Amino acid sequence: MQCVDIEVPSPRDDRGCAVLKHRPREILLSPGLAAQPRPVRLAMARDALNPRGAACSELYGHVEHGLRAVLQTEQDVLLLPPNGTEAMVAAVTNTLSPGEPALVAVNGEFGLRFAAICRDHGVALTVLDVPWGEPVAPERLDDALAARPDVRAVFLVGVESSTGVVSDLQALAAVVRRRAPDSLVVVDAVSHLAAHALEMDAWGLDVVCGAGHKALAGPPGFGLISLSARAWAAAQRATRRGFQTDLVAARTYHAQGQMRFSPPVNALRGLAAALELVAAAGLERHLAHHARVAAYTRRALRALGLAVVAPEACAAHSVTAAWLPAGLGATQVVSALDAQGIVIGTGRGPYTERMIRIGHLGHARICDVAAALAAVGRLLPGGAARPGLACA
Ligand SMILES: Cc1ncc(COP(=O)(O)O)c(C=O)c1O
Repeated sequence: MQCVDIEVPSPRDDRGCAVLKHRPREILLSPGLAAQPRPVRLAMARDALNPRGAACSELYGHVEHGLRAVLQTEQDVLLLPPNGTEAMVAAVTNTLSPGEPALVAVNGEFGLRFAAICRDHGVALTVLDVPWGEPVAPERLDDALAARPDVRAVFLVGVESSTGVVSDLQALAAVVRRRAPDSLVVVDAVSHLAAHALEMDAWGLDVVCGAGHKALAGPPGFGLISLSARAWAAAQRATRRGFQTDLVAARTYHAQGQMRFSPPVNALRGLAAALELVAAAGLERHLAHHARVAAYTRRALRALGLAVVAPEACAAHSVTAAWLPAGLGATQVVSALDAQGIVIGTGRGPYTERMIRIGHLGHARICDVAAALAAVGRLLPGGAARPGLACA
């Protein structure tokens, strides 16, 4: 039996804007997962590869080459199935032994996640609490480190996707280097990579965690992690790296172009295709695309009368969160859009019902965001009478 991928005809929006040539059946603007472009889907539909064979090693090498370019690093980049959280866990267990002191800057859900992983690992934790919706200001980190210059690692989140706020990783890393020079700088760049510039080596980041299914627009299946020479030395010393998250062991396989445990080989093909798309466009253009769609999203939200959570100067390029008016809950909005084949997210944590979050990851288009926000607009008081959103 032959399986045929039947595409719905590509519609045009009301400005005559051609929408995705091979658009999926729904408009996926989830903050958690990028829509996969057709070359990625087709790559995954090919035969599985022998994970210990030469062809798989070659593909793995291509993927690592592409990831090094995105992270701007000469260091190894290891793939770590299945997701970004696995990379965060590995970042903690390979840099710190239980009982060692560390600082986590928390300005949202994913800073909280780093803190929870540290606690689970028995780390002696100091938390720098920053209000949700604000970036981590270098001055605050400076003050916190002045009180705790002995910490062995500082954990930071680039794009805090629970609020759509980006912190200045370069400036924060410089503060750590000055105040606590022996401390490692560990970064959650899961929603940051490939949407914002990140220069791991030049900025002195010791550990960078990412994932393939966010702004790279690869398939779900991979976390990824890269360590500086200092971080590898810490990993050698760490006493409880964890069985599945042991990066020292994983690195010996990596050196042979392999992954330690059975890899999701079809997803590896998909990730390779996603990285080829980034390389073909050029990283600069890929980043600029994210900036452009994000800027449109903020303008369009404001045109609807909704306040964007992030201050303009630190608005993320991968996800935008907006406050809902009193009386309208996020679950209601998300369900109503879902019924129209449009996926967006609710808020997180204490703001689950009060915010909506629009993910504009990878190859998301302005047309898609316009369609989603037109649907949001129809749910707002007086919403039916709000024409012209697509021109916001
Ligand atoms: C900033 C950030 N960190 C970590 C994660 C966790 O990644 P995953 O869902 O792949 O485990 C996410 C996912 O949304 C994220 O946005």
